[in-house]
Amino acid sequence: MVGDFAQRVQAAVASVRSRTDRPVSVGVVLGSGLSDVVDGLVRSSVPTSVPYADIEGFGAPSVSGHRGSLVVAGSAAIMAGRFHYYEGRSMDDVVLPVATLCGLGARVVVLTNAAGGINPAYAPGDLVLIRDHINLMGVNPLVGPQAAGTTARFPDMTEVYDADLRSVARRIDGDLKDGVYAALTGPSYETPAEITMLARLGADLVGMSTVPEAIVARSYGVRVLGISTVTNLAAGLSGSLLDHSEVVEVGRSMQARMVRLLGSIIDELSG
Ligand code: HPA
Repeated sequence: MVGDFAQRVQAAVASVRSRTDRPVSVGVVLGSGLSDVVDGLVRSSVPTSVPYADIEGFGAPSVSGHRGSLVVAGSAAIMAGRFHYYEGRSMDDVVLPVATLCGLGARVVVLTNAAGGINPAYAPGDLVLIRDHINLMGVNPLVGPQAAGTTARFPDMTEVYDADLRSVARRIDGDLKDGVYAALTGPSYETPAEITMLARLGADLVGMSTVPEAIVARSYGVRVLGISTVTNLAAGLSGSLLDHSEVVEVGRSMQARMVRLLGSIIDELSG
């Protein structure tokens, strides 16, 4: 994080607070193909929707399947769309939305993503609770001065993905699998040899997001739940080539289940 990160978070929070003063207790980041989940989650009478373009410092996401708006409804603040390192954005830009959720008051953030399945027990269409991660992005979002509001110079990462929150999710949806998520920068997908390597390293899932956000949320002392949608088998594990439009399409097909799961999680954790 560079020296002005805390001011950037404050400015983004102020942009949102100029639209709504609703208290926020749960933050959600919706991954590839999942932006429309926000429409299913908004059941309160007057949700506030803020386009990213109106949040100071955000700018618009450049990737299809990412809407680019923050919706505050009930006590949840939901980011429909995220920024990725592969878009050429700085790590500070990538983690600004999750830091903004923390700045708005979220005590829990739920990070969702689309991922390739490495574990042979997974099939496209599975939802997987992230149990742990392997950061292979070659960067850590906390490099630089320690940002004001974070709890430690060297945050503990023993339990990034909160075990109690995973139990809550499992009680709601008994078919959830769990696994270790490896993050690479992308934007090229992995080679089959890289997938063999990742399997040997202990990864069950592979993707291009989430890990920087999880690290930053933990650095603020905020509890994290991570949920991957398995949109495809990882490279070399099926007969077919990987294609982003398919990732988005499979992600979309899983939206109803994700709405049920996230809606119940938000209900349970709110208040
Ligand atoms: N690899 C990396 N990121 C992904 C994949 C994948 O196979 N599927 C969805 N996001």
